[in-house]
Amino acid sequence: MNKLLDCLINKNPAKVPIWFMRQAGRYLPEFRKIRSQNPNFINLCLNSDLVTEITLQPIKRFNLDGTIIFSDILMIPYGLGQKVEFKKGIGPILYDFNIDEIVNIKSADFTKKLSPVYKAIGQVKNQVNNTNLIGFVGAPWTLIVYMLMKQSPKNNFNIKDIVNQKEIIRKLMDKIKETIILHVENQIKAGAEIIQIFDSWAGLLQQEHLSEYCYSPTADIVAHIKSKKVPVICFPRGIKKSYLDFCKTVSPDCINIDYEIDPNWIEENIKNISIQGGMDPKILLTDKKNIEENVKFFLKTFSKHSYIFNLGHGVLPETKPEAIEEVIKTVQRYNK
Ligand code: CP3
Repeated sequence: MNKLLDCLINKNPAKVPIWFMRQAGRYLPEFRKIRSQNPNFINLCLNSDLVTEITLQPIKRFNLDGTIIFSDILMIPYGLGQKVEFKKGIGPILYDFNIDEIVNIKSADFTKKLSPVYKAIGQVKNQVNNTNLIGFVGAPWTLIVYMLMKQSPKNNFNIKDIVNQKEIIRKLMDKIKETIILHVENQIKAGAEIIQIFDSWAGLLQQEHLSEYCYSPTADIVAHIKSKKVPVICFPRGIKKSYLDFCKTVSPDCINIDYEIDPNWIEENIKNISIQGGMDPKILLTDKKNIEENVKFFLKTFSKHSYIFNLGHGVLPETKPEAIEEVIKTVQRYNK
């Protein structure tokens, strides 16, 4: 059994597997080259051969334990018929949709539209042996935020703009949950061995809304994935000490922590669940010595825990590939 699955299933603290969120991305010159020839990001995500090539780019360069399929959480709104574009320097832009049309999309049509993604998963699976293949989805809350705000909610976010749209939310939540489960099942059938759920905007929710919009819908999806005997990693980014309530109510196999939460507090409070990530991606923009010290700090903090090395968010585009190499070397020395 490969190291990542072994860690998730057997909870062995002796070996620390490593992979990175956004390990295939703009910090790699070979990715930038393909990207510059493919200005339409959605079309790129629908090109099975290029998705396979991009997914394998970091695997060819580095000794990683996880291979995450190159895709995007916004492939779900796309598959449901909402137009999605990625604008340089702005990020994703989504367009208006008709809720009743979305609710009426048939599973078979969604699966057909996203079939190049599943084909790519099968192709990647045939080419990786020493690493585990990770599929992923966005959590319902984060997808609803993008679908209704139609862009990253970084600026001028007002929770009322979303939660007051009660009728739309009710219809959308059910459809999104059903579609996430479908997308996960399709990825598992195609060869994904682990699923990660990204709730990148969970931190926008106040305490009073966390249960309804984050814990409860995610718990249903996690239970479904577990019933397929596939380990699931959750990343409810930015929820601070609610990580504890999240783990108790959702009970994923593993929790990815962000870089705002104190790792020592996590170590003391979260038991029986593997921990992943935590280090600030900005550390990778500093010198070798500082990188090594920070990696060692995480390894030491979680030495008695089943721990997967990763970051507290994705690799930043300005990261030098050598910095990734440095992190991997430090983790490997520890594993010996
Ligand atoms: O290597 C991997 O991690 C797999 C590929 C992956 C991408 N997006 C490729 C991508 C994964 C797992 C995602 C998830 C994703 N997408 C999330 C959740 C994780 C997180 O970052 O919080 C979110 C919120 C999105 C939505 C999204 N996609 C945004 C906001 C953006 C633009 C800004 C940014 O962060 O880059 C994207 C575009 C995107 N998705 C790129 C990549 C490599 C950059 C594309 C480019 O412009 O070249």
